[in-house]
Amino acid sequence: MRMVDIIEKKRNGEELTTAEIRFFVEGYTDGTIPDYQASALCMAIYFQDMTDRERADLTMAMVESGDQIDLSSIAGVKVDKHSTGGVGDTTTLPLTAMVAAVGVPVAKMSGRGLGHTGGTIDKLEAIEGFHVELSSEEFSKQVNDIGMAVIGQSGNLTPADKKLYALRDVTGTVSSIPLIAGSIMSKKIAAGADAIVLDVKTGDGAFMKTVEDSIKLAEAMVKIGNSVGRKTMAIISDMSQPLGYAIGNALEVQEAIDTLKGKGPADLNELCYTLGSQMVVVGGKAKTIEEARKMLEEVVASGAALEVLKKFITAQGGDASVVDDPSRLPQAKFKFDVPAKQAGYISKIEADDIGTAAMLLGAGRATKESEIDLAVGLVLHKKVGDEVKEGESLMTIHANTENVDAVLEKIYAHIFISAEKVEAPKLIEAIIT
Ligand code: URA
Ligand code: CA
Repeated sequence: MRMVDIIEKKRNGEELTTAEIRFFVEGYTDGTIPDYQASALCMAIYFQDMTDRERADLTMAMVESGDQIDLSSIAGVKVDKHSTGGVGDTTTLPLTAMVAAVGVPVAKMSGRGLGHTGGTIDKLEAIEGFHVELSSEEFSKQVNDIGMAVIGQSGNLTPADKKLYALRDVTGTVSSIPLIAGSIMSKKIAAGADAIVLDVKTGDGAFMKTVEDSIKLAEAMVKIGNSVGRKTMAIISDMSQPLGYAIGNALEVQEAIDTLKGKGPADLNELCYTLGSQMVVVGGKAKTIEEARKMLEEVVASGAALEVLKKFITAQGGDASVVDDPSRLPQAKFKFDVPAKQAGYISKIEADDIGTAAMLLGAGRATKESEIDLAVGLVLHKKVGDEVKEGESLMTIHANTENVDAVLEKIYAHIFISAEKVEAPKLIEAIIT
């Protein structure tokens, strides 16, 4: 088999065979196929697309390019959730504690973040003592005992995706549906999930800016998952403004705790219940979405979900007293309010730029080597559709530096107030099964 023939075949719009796709993925992973041929094929895929069968083959070839996590020692259907990423997306922590509390085992492998704020692991490390270094035996035992565990990315998972993603990043081939879908799904499948619930974000702060594109991506991933024997569902959720109120690591841990106490922001709360209901259904603990939702509401109301969170923090070496006393989380030295310059209704809070403002404070990494300041970030007081008086605080800046002029300037440039009443954006745009 020759790589040049595979490139030409795809360039001409023909369907590649399973063997051809495997030849490419294996050869690119072991270095026998050079970057220039791989990038030519990615570009051909970008323009010619792939059939459903090719997409599934690409995904499984990437899964098999490295290690696969075996979660069979954990009882029950292991359901994983994946978000395509957004600003202030605090969902993972409250969501996983809720579903664990109704008996769906959560065996999660998470990453550190590159971007506006840290990833789930960075956030958890805002809790003193918390660590994610568990052996695979400890990991399984903890999930069986208390229902949830989170570990860092370990082992040689989907090396084909690592190499290809880096190549796509510099060859104009990131935004291709078959390539994105294969990249995301291969990582979830290699991490051992039996079932996958996807939260595909849409809007300014998301990877996919329009609902149409988000639906296409979600449908592609749902088809891949289901065709390789992993039950997969997706929701399309709004990321035109930040999710919840908090953007920052310790601040989001506090928001997660509030949500499990039933006092979280309405949008974050609703998203947790929507995603959680799907996870409970695919996890086989409820027959219908309505039944699942009731179960989740009950474990929040009774405090059972909060109890799971405490046990989880303790099991991984963390100080669980932060749950009752969030002031024990890292605190920034300075707080500054951002007063509204005029009265009216909030019409836009541009997620991407507000996220960048949080990053300027030190909440996120600009490069892989950057250090995160866990204490800093932003706490919104207003969301799109809310009425605001002149001089009323739009948000509070939590900073460890006294000069926040650049951050203020960024915030004012990306929050808009209109004289007319504005509708809040729809949170859940679609559900795809
Ligand atoms: N996220 C991924 O993991 N892969 C992509 O290709 C795009 C976003
Ligand atoms: Ca948030």
